[in-house]
Amino acid sequence: MATFKLLLLPGDGIGPEVMAELKAIVDWFTAKGVASFEVEEGLVGGAAYEAHGQSISEADMSRAQSADAVMFGAVGGPKWDGVPYDKRPEAGLLRLRKDLALYANLRPAICYPALADASALKRELVDGLDMLIVRELTGGVYFGEPKTITDLGNGQKRAIDTQVYDTYEIERVSRVAFELARTRRNMVHSAEKRNVMKSGVLWHEVVSALHRESYADVELNHILADNCAMQLVRRPKQFDVIVTDNLFGDILSDVAAMLTGSLGMLPSASLGAADESTGRRKALYEPVHGSAPDIAGKGLANPIAMIASFAMALRYSFELKDWASRLDQAIAASLEKNLRTADIMQDGMIQIGTAEMGKSILNELERLAG
Ligand code: IPM
Ligand code: MN
Repeated sequence: MATFKLLLLPGDGIGPEVMAELKAIVDWFTAKGVASFEVEEGLVGGAAYEAHGQSISEADMSRAQSADAVMFGAVGGPKWDGVPYDKRPEAGLLRLRKDLALYANLRPAICYPALADASALKRELVDGLDMLIVRELTGGVYFGEPKTITDLGNGQKRAIDTQVYDTYEIERVSRVAFELARTRRNMVHSAEKRNVMKSGVLWHEVVSALHRESYADVELNHILADNCAMQLVRRPKQFDVIVTDNLFGDILSDVAAMLTGSLGMLPSASLGAADESTGRRKALYEPVHGSAPDIAGKGLANPIAMIASFAMALRYSFELKDWASRLDQAIAASLEKNLRTADIMQDGMIQIGTAEMGKSILNELERLAG
């Protein structure tokens, strides 16, 4: 039986509650003999700041480096609004992405039929939506230097962020997008702003060249990022895979997420390069939702995104694709039983809490496992 090392970083807010439900599922997989998951737990975000005075400790960083996958909850909250910029909760997440070189962020937006009415868009626009945003995650304006605020001495300050991309950064993330498209509807939209940004001009050039050389069988469409935002709310089902830079990807993926009815439903995967000898990629899996401090500790949070993130780990890190599908089916089955957490509650449905939703998914998984 294969053994995998998992590092759990529950973080802040609702992170620990949703992680507790995931833990039960991970333990189930080990008990069932599907694989042996060796689980360690660490601190990130505000929780790490309270314990170590930094957003992630060196010890946890090195655990993350040696893990087969990191399961990440959520970070941040008003409690840490005043902490120094480089120690703010988000810095822990950004450091994990950068130091583990997790350059490809996969953000699926799938609309479960049971939830199509919870979308802000009309049912017919989102029912059956199944798209994937591939966001570049270790470059661009998030990390570009200089990144400064300077005092100009005349009562004015100047803030600088730098949008910078090298050919290889664009190429490797686009490769991931084309490869994934081949396993789906074989279509990629590449979103940039080449009409105003040099990085957009290069992005367009590199994606086009890669397409010509290696992926001519995949349909490629270039789209300006602002138009992409508009098309996402106009006719989202026209998209299969969207590949885009770090900042546009941040924004477009929030739009795409909301099309599905709830942020509480969506998982994500952040992947690094495949190791030349083992073929394994460094990987971090996290729900798209944040720490939701307003409902933290109340047992109200939706654990589905966290659990669906583990389904992505089964698929992309552990080569357990059948089990990934079963776990996804277990989630869908719980929704079909009309069970809803508060964030997706609707008339006529049965409202339950975090732990009950976790248990229901586990029960369905048991049943599907036969
Ligand atoms: C996300 C988040 C992060 C980002 C924050 C928490 C730094 O919004 O994962 O989309 O901007 O990348
Ligand atoms: Mn975001």
